[in-house]
Amino acid sequence: MEVIVARTAEEMSKVAAQEVVDVLNAKPNAVLGMATGSTPLGVYQELVKLHRRGELDFSHVTTFNLDEYVGLPITHPQSYHQFMHENFFRQVNIPAQNIHIPSGTTTNYPAFCAWYEQRIRECGGIDLQILGIGSDGHIAFNEPGSSLSSRTRLKTLARQTIDDNARFFEHRDDVPIYAITMGVGTILEARKIVLVASGKGKAKAIAQTVEG
Ligand code: F6R
Repeated sequence: MEVIVARTAEEMSKVAAQEVVDVLNAKPNAVLGMATGSTPLGVYQELVKLHRRGELDFSHVTTFNLDEYVGLPITHPQSYHQFMHENFFRQVNIPAQNIHIPSGTTTNYPAFCAWYEQRIRECGGIDLQILGIGSDGHIAFNEPGSSLSSRTRLKTLARQTIDDNARFFEHRDDVPIYAITMGVGTILEARKIVLVASGKGKAKAIAQTVEG
């Protein structure tokens, strides 16, 4: 594990974006794992900037998002589908059929989760996973106590996560209490992981992640 301390969130985003650039330069058809949340936004902005300058091509890239809220239609402004399309996919050239985001509205979650895992394997596994971290230390929506070998599944969100995410919804009660999420085991199979975190609220989670 390499820990890179950046002076600003902007610098952090540039360092993380450079990791994506390096992977795509070495493998233009790489499989990228995508995260939502406020922290990776700057990374996506950097990548969009490079794409607009003609320095980064996503036309052979495949993506898999980490998670989605259960019960939110894809058109809901707080769904992770909307987030990704608004903040990234709409602004780069990844073929629509190469984009995978867990469904928060499937009628059969176990079957969907098994299919998602299978799609990741069929695409050759994730080359680079972008990750954020929750203030309670969750990665994707794997709340504390999640098994290290867990796979894509339904999870109940921790109270702290619901409180943290309430800022995006009109009322706290509007925050979904379930999510579909890649497991810790799924994430750890990525060939490379770039976890981004910034701000005081993440200091404890990062100290425990790095120092144990
Ligand atoms: C989102 C995700 C979450 C976030 C985490 C931090 O896809 O997987 O684990 O990374 O909740 O969110 P922000 O960056 O908004 O603090």
